[in-house]
Amino acid sequence: MRVIIKKTYEEMSKEAAKIIKELIERKPNCVLGLATGSTPVGLYKELIRMHREEGLDFSQVITFNLDEYYGLAPDHPQSYRYFMEENLFKGINIKKENTHVPDGTVKLEEVEEYCRKYEEMIKQAGGIDIQVLGIGGDGHIAFNEPGSSLASRTRLVALDEQTIKDNSRFFESEEEVPRFALSMGVGTILEAKEIIFLANGKKKAEVVAKAIEGPVTSQITASALQLHPKVTAILDEEAASQLKRISYYKFVEEAEKKIGRRLY
Ligand code: F6R
Repeated sequence: MRVIIKKTYEEMSKEAAKIIKELIERKPNCVLGLATGSTPVGLYKELIRMHREEGLDFSQVITFNLDEYYGLAPDHPQSYRYFMEENLFKGINIKKENTHVPDGTVKLEEVEEYCRKYEEMIKQAGGIDIQVLGIGGDGHIAFNEPGSSLASRTRLVALDEQTIKDNSRFFESEEEVPRFALSMGVGTILEAKEIIFLANGKKKAEVVAKAIEGPVTSQITASALQLHPKVTAILDEEAASQLKRISYYKFVEEAEKKIGRRLY
């Protein structure tokens, strides 16, 4: 895994946006895997700025989101579809029909088939070129809570107590946080051609160190990213503060600068 440590959240967001911009310029009809939550908000702001000021063109870009709360309609202010419209889609020239967020209102008896089709759509689009990920306080990626199979696929999942607590900041009360979600699986995520893994803030430092430098375990599903050949973790200094191999990451960064291409 390539680890890039930036001083601030803004620098972290800009670095991630730069990688996505390069992809869109190289492949205008690329497929992006997107995340919600606080972490990627700065990245989305920067992509909107690049669209407005630098003409970054999203007209052929296709997107698939990682997850959606089960039971929330797309127009619910806390739904992830709503989040994406507000924080990214309405600020860029993406076509609505090219954006995909799992539908949290699908009937229980149709969930399995719906999830299978979601994966099928990703395949038909050619697979995800770059997947953006955040990490939950319990080490989850998407809503793959501790104990999720590292081979898991898109499915209906139950949220852990910690995730419900963490995400209650977006709701009026903890009771209002949905208990279930539709989520891409760890196996689905690992099929992305490239992954950008973002984390910021002191609160994430311990779990980030476990995910990047600890053993691969279903108890911290983000640790499965160690099995992927092309992951760039972009962290701010606070989130990186418990990593042990910082001198190694810096060495790789310097070496890459010298040779003008990436090593890992
Ligand atoms: C969101 C998602 C989650 C978040 C994670 C971190 O689509 O899949 O895994 O990335 O819960 O959330 P924040 O960024 O709010 O700390």
